[in-house]
Amino acid sequence: MKPVVLVTRRLTDAVHERVSRDYDAILNMEDRVFGRDELIARCQDVDAVLPCHSEVFSADVIAALPKRLKVIANHSVGVDHVDLKAAKAKGIMVTNTPDVLSDATAEIAMLCMLGAARRGSEGDRMVREGRWNFWSPAFMVGRQVSGKRMGIVGMGRVGQVTADRARGFGMEIHYHNRRRIAPELEKGAVFHDDLDALLETADVVSLHCPATPETTGMMNDAAFERMKPGAILVNTARGALVDEDALIRALTSGQLFAAGLDVFRTEPGGNPRLSALENVFLLPHIGSATSETRDAMGFRALDNIDAVFAGREPGDRVA
Ligand code: DGY
Repeated sequence: MKPVVLVTRRLTDAVHERVSRDYDAILNMEDRVFGRDELIARCQDVDAVLPCHSEVFSADVIAALPKRLKVIANHSVGVDHVDLKAAKAKGIMVTNTPDVLSDATAEIAMLCMLGAARRGSEGDRMVREGRWNFWSPAFMVGRQVSGKRMGIVGMGRVGQVTADRARGFGMEIHYHNRRRIAPELEKGAVFHDDLDALLETADVVSLHCPATPETTGMMNDAAFERMKPGAILVNTARGALVDEDALIRALTSGQLFAAGLDVFRTEPGGNPRLSALENVFLLPHIGSATSETRDAMGFRALDNIDAVFAGREPGDRVA
């Protein structure tokens, strides 16, 4: 008998084909989000679950999972929706999908940076709404990023690819990370041991670290005050990193020129008070949303499940 695998959201056809070929697969073709109780109920008769960041595996959900469930093989690099300690204590493996979404997410970081710096949303709305009735050299003037300093917070895989893309715009790369990375990966980027030092020097600050108790709310009033007047914030990582009230204060006071955000504290939906501002460029958490990357994420999650049922250590084990 094949192991039973629950796929909690609608994935690509190629991923559905592979999981249905290799496992007794339970698919969610309606793509309905399972709430806590339904998630617990649906996990009762399965050997593996392949969820997205939309399914929250809190300690109490994990406590209610059956003994037969061996792995939570996430279709995401971020695993802040899973209580890793609780999973480990219960003997359930947890995996993620690193690497395969770095290019796609770095592209969205560039889109957010340029959209914020060059007033992309404001201009788009003006043309669409028929309000573009004027042009002058002083009209819709934004900030140029070429030759400026890009400050990367979290120089993991996505941070490094984002740095490469920013180099393509002629930006000088600075970064803050828990540890300095190897010189061949640094490619001349300037390491700042101290986050404040990075914030003080960067013209654009782009967040690429995971949401943990230590990083939650790290971009608060004090952090925005440290940033250069007129700087830009980009967040394609997790909404929890940013204190959105503090961000709104920094955007309305003019301390920040603009922000480009793909992630929010409340998802889906975002923050209506942020949406009301002109100097924000907003996207609905689509960092990894390309067909190529969606296939690759699904396959990577399945590689991890395959390893577990073949008695091997999964390549992307995080707990
Ligand atoms: C990730 O992989 O963490 C993305 O945010 C999509 O969930």
